[in-house]
Amino acid sequence: MKPRDYSLDSLWMPFTANRQFKSAPRIFVAAKDMHFTTDDGRQVLDGTAGLWCVNAGHCRPRIVDAIKRQLDTMDYCPAFQMGHPTEFRVADLLRDMAPGDLNHVFFANSGSEAVDTALKIALAYQRARGEGQRTVLIGRERGYHGVGFGGISVGGIPANRKAYGSMLPRVDHLPHTHNLEKNAFSRGQPAWGAHLADELETRIIALHDASNIAAVIVEPAAGSTGVLVPPVGYLQRLRQICDKHGLLLIFDEVITGFGRTGHAFAAETFGVIPDMITFAKGVTNATIPLSGVIVRPDIHDTIVNNAPPGMVELFHGYTYSGHPVATAAAEATLGLYHEEKLFERARSIAPHFENAVHGLKGMPHVIDVRNYGLMAGIELAPRAGKPGARAFDAFLRCFDKGLLVRVTGDIIALSPPLIIEKAQIDQLVGTIADALKAID
Ligand SMILES: Cc1ncc(COP(=O)(O)O)c(C=O)c1O
Repeated sequence: MKPRDYSLDSLWMPFTANRQFKSAPRIFVAAKDMHFTTDDGRQVLDGTAGLWCVNAGHCRPRIVDAIKRQLDTMDYCPAFQMGHPTEFRVADLLRDMAPGDLNHVFFANSGSEAVDTALKIALAYQRARGEGQRTVLIGRERGYHGVGFGGISVGGIPANRKAYGSMLPRVDHLPHTHNLEKNAFSRGQPAWGAHLADELETRIIALHDASNIAAVIVEPAAGSTGVLVPPVGYLQRLRQICDKHGLLLIFDEVITGFGRTGHAFAAETFGVIPDMITFAKGVTNATIPLSGVIVRPDIHDTIVNNAPPGMVELFHGYTYSGHPVATAAAEATLGLYHEEKLFERARSIAPHFENAVHGLKGMPHVIDVRNYGLMAGIELAPRAGKPGARAFDAFLRCFDKGLLVRVTGDIIALSPPLIIEKAQIDQLVGTIADALKAID
């Protein structure tokens, strides 16, 4: 390994145990297709598509070239009151991929911003249609919607909330759907739990009154808290209740978008059309930050037509909304997904992935395996008094043996690039099995 020509001191790393990391750093210096290269020259199989985002595999020439070409042509275009061709073309592509009649796209940069944008659009829409008292926002326990104040307010991860005060004032949460007693080792959608959606009506609407509620936001399948697949019928019930009471339904598809569940969006996979979809990550194969919200025509038209002619209709946007380099990356990425039929590929390889991960049932420490499409959660029994420690040991062991997994609490989360081969799935699961046998 070459000596480092940098210090580790000044960088404060996100969602990282900084002191632990800096005592034994894990540094990647290159990536190609299914692998990273470490600074000591080892190949590491990417079992997580980076952070659920490199869906087409790393450093794909078509995307890299499009970015380079755009940088040679126009590095930036003001996002406000000016436009450039690629952002309009990418909006059209996303409209064509979106389910149902969702047909207007608002660009942001990160998933967190996409979520804040969707929540703000929900409030602006309710106001524009004369229901401005609808300001309550409903999220779900164990939901992850990024780290903005909007996202942590509707999000349901205690550690992400507890240091940050009162957050948004009018928020409530549905119960999560995770239940090991009922659903352990489910393959695909668990059978039990659709009735948990009824709490929207029986508890939340009963408490706040529907006339005060603007929107409900959920991940169709929760990723960051350990792959929680929606029970059969659950999302349908949420949709019915939202329709009955005039609540907008937002699907946060930052993880589930772009093939993770075998279609462009999980909305299509599960057959439930929300009023808005947030997306990020896979839209550019993670090469350049880009995110956004896709909305139904009524939401767009109500807000836009409510403003006087010639006036800005929605007082919202980012310096880098629709950035030319990011949209060039997105155009190439969406083209690549289409050309290589990667969403179909995810669908067709998913049964092999399912069988492989469920082969971990019976391994030491494993108390659940769950999966959908090309995502899986392997839940371990926690060590007494040390939540998360066992899975973190498994993570370190896998990394030493040439595999990148992600851990959240005591759950190992897998979300490989959609180009993964069957032999690589077997290698991935075999490495995890060895790690589970090796740790205490
Ligand atoms: C469902 C969901 N929403 C929002 C986000 C936040 O995205 P970002 O980290 O780009 O802000 C994430 C990130 O993992 C996510 O999984």
